[in-house]
Amino acid sequence: MSILEQKAAALYGEQKYPEALDIYLSLYKKSPKTEKYSIFCGNCFDALGDAEQAIAFYKRASRLNPVSVTSLVALANVYYNHGDYKNSEKFSRRILKKFPDNASALLNLGNIAYCKGDYETAFQFYEAVYKNNKASYIAVVNMANTCYDLGRFVKALDYARKALKLYPSSVDAYIIRGNSYIELGRYEKAENCLLRALDLRNDNPWIYTSLSRLYQKIENWDKALEAGWNAVLYAGEAQKDQHINFGYLLYECAEEKGAEAAAYYASKWRDTFADNKVVAYMADAVLNDKPVKKADKDYVLQIFDAFAADFDSTLAGLEYQAPEYVAEAVRTVIKKDFFKPVRCLDLGCGTGLCAQAVKPVIGWSEITGVDLSEKMLEEAGKKYVYDRLTADDILNFLATDKRIYHLVTAADVLTYFGDLQKLFALVAGVLGNKGLFVFTVSENTHNNDDYFLTPSGRFVHGSDYVLKLLKKNGFNKLSMERKALRNEGDKVVYGYVVAAEKILTVEKEF
Ligand SMILES: C[S@@+](CC[C@H](N)C(=O)[O-])C[C@H]1O[C@@H](n2cnc3c(N)ncnc32)[C@H](O)[C@@H]1O
Repeated sequence: MSILEQKAAALYGEQKYPEALDIYLSLYKKSPKTEKYSIFCGNCFDALGDAEQAIAFYKRASRLNPVSVTSLVALANVYYNHGDYKNSEKFSRRILKKFPDNASALLNLGNIAYCKGDYETAFQFYEAVYKNNKASYIAVVNMANTCYDLGRFVKALDYARKALKLYPSSVDAYIIRGNSYIELGRYEKAENCLLRALDLRNDNPWIYTSLSRLYQKIENWDKALEAGWNAVLYAGEAQKDQHINFGYLLYECAEEKGAEAAAYYASKWRDTFADNKVVAYMADAVLNDKPVKKADKDYVLQIFDAFAADFDSTLAGLEYQAPEYVAEAVRTVIKKDFFKPVRCLDLGCGTGLCAQAVKPVIGWSEITGVDLSEKMLEEAGKKYVYDRLTADDILNFLATDKRIYHLVTAADVLTYFGDLQKLFALVAGVLGNKGLFVFTVSENTHNNDDYFLTPSGRFVHGSDYVLKLLKKNGFNKLSMERKALRNEGDKVVYGYVVAAEKILTVEKEF
């Protein structure tokens, strides 16, 4: 190695990437056909976050030495790190064609499958690495983690133990063991593992999240809240899911112990993260100390983006029936000799459960779905019931869409709106004469207010308020039935299934 190369390597080792890059670029210019200079330049660009230049240099290196695996591994990694799984997979598979046991490519493919939620395939790739090299900590800790996600908790414990033999101070392995013990109901062991992880790393928010979950299980709410609070403090603003977790914890605490029990941390949370609107909304829901008219958009987006993949199965488990009730109400009012709706708008369509239930009732139809969450819309697309799916806020969509509809549906959506005036007025604006508006609202059993924001972040409404607003906006109530809409914990959520028709004084063109 030349003196210049040694200097560049030392600078790179000290993470002085711009300085290292200067030297490598000069070496590369002098000797552009030397593979290693292209690779080193690529490494510096990668370290500096310039993926495009890194890829260009790695590809150059690969052309210079097509049989070398170094540049292919670098390409697979850089694509993976920048979320381009398609290209990462392409290069990883290319590596495996030449070297079927290449650990880096197998791990990459495992990680890609894991990110896609295909834990079974991920496990197989990690296992292939482990079979070739029993000393691979990264393979075995990933196997443990994947087993945990697959619900194989005993296996997860075993692989995490093996990981600890290879790397005794592995925080991840202790967390996996702690979480697995929680799932197996062995709370003392879980606490030991998680406290051990905390000894090793007391600023890791995930350890606190697991501890919080554990204390919640054993109904030690003080400790659960304290651990949850530490999780958000160490997570800071950046880790949004930690805040959502803490919001759920406060909600569950408020449900179990009353809102006062959660109030101290809710208000501390709101004060500490004063610019965070999602925090403000979730804390407001617990504290209920100021008027809130509508759910925060980012809150809706974050919870439903995260929920999308499991929404249908989770809601089925909660005996969610709002879509069927909406469909039933549509069937009943159509039977009563109203026109057969042909153009339908499904507000807050989510994963498409409502349109799926309504479509057979309305026969030939054109259905538009609108929702804030792209991830929910992706799921809705898979059901092939919509002619058009639009990512937008409902109020904005209604205010800007130029079409006139025969039917507007909203199943379990108005629960993200407190004040319904604007929404009802806008729905009235997109309906033709005798156009139908069929929706559900959850019943306000908390007080006599028009609407009430519950600690869950969902609004409940008074039936008189709903009727008053329908009338005010030119709707004629056709039916309003009290129904059990779904379960929430061990409680049943009751609400109203409402069908109303819009009576226009001046006919609109469809
Ligand atoms: C409980 S889900 C119901 C989904 C669907 N209607 C069903 O019955 O399965 C509520 C949906 O409303 C959407 N949503 C809530 N507020 C919204 C808003 N302001 N604009 C658009 N979509 C909204 C959420 O993203 C979520 O997909």
